[in-house]
Amino acid sequence: MAEDLITRTFGGVRSHIAAARGRDPATANVSSLEILLTWPGVQALLAYRLANRFRRSGIPLLPFAVSYLSRAITGIEIHPDARIGPGLFIDHGAGVVIGETAEIGENVTLYQGVTLGGTGFQAGKRHPTIEDNVTIGSGAKLLGPIKVGHGAKIGANSVVVEDVPPRSTVVGNPGHPVRIEGRKVTDGPDADWIHLPDPLQDAVKSLSARIKDLERQVAELSGEPKPDVDEPDNEPKKGRSSAGG
Ligand SMILES: CC(C)(COP(=O)(O)OP(=O)(O)OC[C@H]1O[C@@H](n2cnc3c(N)ncnc32)[C@H](O)[C@@H]1OP(=O)(O)O)[C@@H](O)C(=O)NCCC(=O)NCCS
Repeated sequence: MAEDLITRTFGGVRSHIAAARGRDPATANVSSLEILLTWPGVQALLAYRLANRFRRSGIPLLPFAVSYLSRAITGIEIHPDARIGPGLFIDHGAGVVIGETAEIGENVTLYQGVTLGGTGFQAGKRHPTIEDNVTIGSGAKLLGPIKVGHGAKIGANSVVVEDVPPRSTVVGNPGHPVRIEGRKVTDGPDADWIHLPDPLQDAVKSLSARIKDLERQVAELSGEPKPDVDEPDNEPKKGRSSAGG
């Protein structure tokens, strides 16, 4: 058990330092020992791993004592029961709160002041689930048992209380998507003045289809050959829109 704990702890140290190096440019000219001793995000995650292990072993008091000490030193509060995947990086750290039923996937990045919290006093699952490769900007509050889809970005200071689609960017209060799958979400008026709907043409097109259908039915009933009717070109004209600029 002790050997297993040491192996896992060293593995954890290495992976948390690697995550810091991968996502914090400030680590460029800094040794791993310096990161370990002075990066609060790395320290808080190591403390969480220990507290979580104590908790799962049923040891009383220690998990919360470790968590409490870690918060006092780093300013980051992670509940020992939270579920955190590999590769989480907490940049700067101060003010981060990760609640009891929060779940975090792989390679997630949190900046300072992020809260993964509940909305009230309800019991059970009440904190967010964050999927892989999500980035959450400083000061963002994610509240309730919402799901943040993989690869999503949450803007600094957003307040998010609803599910976030994968690979989208959500900003503001209340948080709303401004990008989905990399494409801008536009709420404004449609500025395509060329390809306007044409109700008259639509009506003629529909009547023409109906007449053709009736002619076919009459021909079938009377035993005559089917009429060869030329379809008018009713397709709307396509071209470059002047609305582009
Ligand atoms: C949201 C963010 C990730 C940018 O994502 P993006 O997909 O590249 O989005 P864009 O920059 O194209 O912005 C899209 C729109 O959202 C707006 N926006 C961006 N971030 C915003 C924020 N935090 N709050 C409100 N609106 C924001 C932009 O002004 C833009 O609006 P527009 O379409 O009206 O011009 C980035 O702005 C952000 O907040 N990053 C967090 C960084 C952080 O916390 N750093 C801490 C370092 S210590």
